[in-house]
Amino acid sequence: INIILLGPPGAGKGTQARTLVEERGLVQLSTGDMLRDARSSGTEMGKIVADVMDRGQLVTDEIVIGLIREKLDTVEAPGFIFDGFPRTLPQADALEELLAGMGRKIDAVIEMRVDDEALVDRVSGRYTCGNCGEVYHDATRPTKETGKCDACGSTDMKRRADDNPESLKTRLMEYYKKTSPLVGYYYAKKTLAPVDGMAEMDEVGRQVAEIVDRIG
Ligand code: AP5
Ligand code: ZN
Repeated sequence: INIILLGPPGAGKGTQARTLVEERGLVQLSTGDMLRDARSSGTEMGKIVADVMDRGQLVTDEIVIGLIREKLDTVEAPGFIFDGFPRTLPQADALEELLAGMGRKIDAVIEMRVDDEALVDRVSGRYTCGNCGEVYHDATRPTKETGKCDACGSTDMKRRADDNPESLKTRLMEYYKKTSPLVGYYYAKKTLAPVDGMAEMDEVGRQVAEIVDRIG
C-alpha cells in the first residue's frame, strides 16, 4: 500500500510516519528529510536549496520530483509513505505517473487537520534527534531524560533553522496557496481520508491506523 500524509507544517506528518514505519514496515519518503540531508552533505543541490528552505519557501518541483524518482527507482519496499510530498499539483501528477510506471497507485491520502495557532506551538517546541531522527516536543513529547534521545540514547538534539515564527508564516502561506488545492484534487479521486490532527498523538495514531487497516 502507498500512502500520502498531507497537512500543514507541524501537523504531525513525520510523527505519524515513524509509527507506520515501525508498525507496518512501510518505507518513509520525506522530501524535507532528503533536502536536509543534501544540505548537510554539502552537495551542489544542497547549497542551492538551503536559502529557500530557511525562508520557508517551496523548493522547485524539478528538484523534489527528481529526488522522489531516484528513491522509487532504487528502494525496495512493500509500500511507501509519502511525507511532505506532493506539495503542488505538478508534483501530484508526477507522482501518479511514476507510480503507474511501477504498477502501483496511491491507496489513501491522509489529510491531517490542525488549526494554525496550534501549528505555531508545535514547530516552536519541536526538536529532533540528530542521530535517529526521532521527533520530540518541549511540552507534548519531551525526552524522558533531558537532552537524551529515548530511542537511541544520543545527546545530539537539533532544532530546525526554519522553525521560527517568520519562516513558519511563509511556510503556512505556501501551504495554503500551493498545497491545499491537493485536498480537492484527491477528494475528486476518492482517496482523501481526513483525520483530526488536533487530537493527542496516540489518538491521531489510532485514526491513521484505522484508515490503513481499511485499505490494507
Ligand atoms: P518538511 O520537512 O516537509 O516540513 P513541513 O511540511 O513544514 O512539516 P514539518 O516537518 O514541519 O511537520 P510535520 O507535519 O512532520 O510535524 P511533526 O511530526 O514534526 O519541509 C521543510 C522544507 O523543505 C519546506 O519548507 C520546503 O522548503 C522544502 N520541501 C520539502 N518537501 C518539499 C516539496 N515536496 N516541494 C517543495 N519543497 C519542499 O510534528 C511537529 C511537532 O509537533 C513535533 O514536536 C511533535 O512532537 C509535535 N506533535 C506531533 N503530533 C502532535 C499531536 N497530535 N499533539 C501534540 N503535539 C504533536
Ligand atoms: Zn535518537
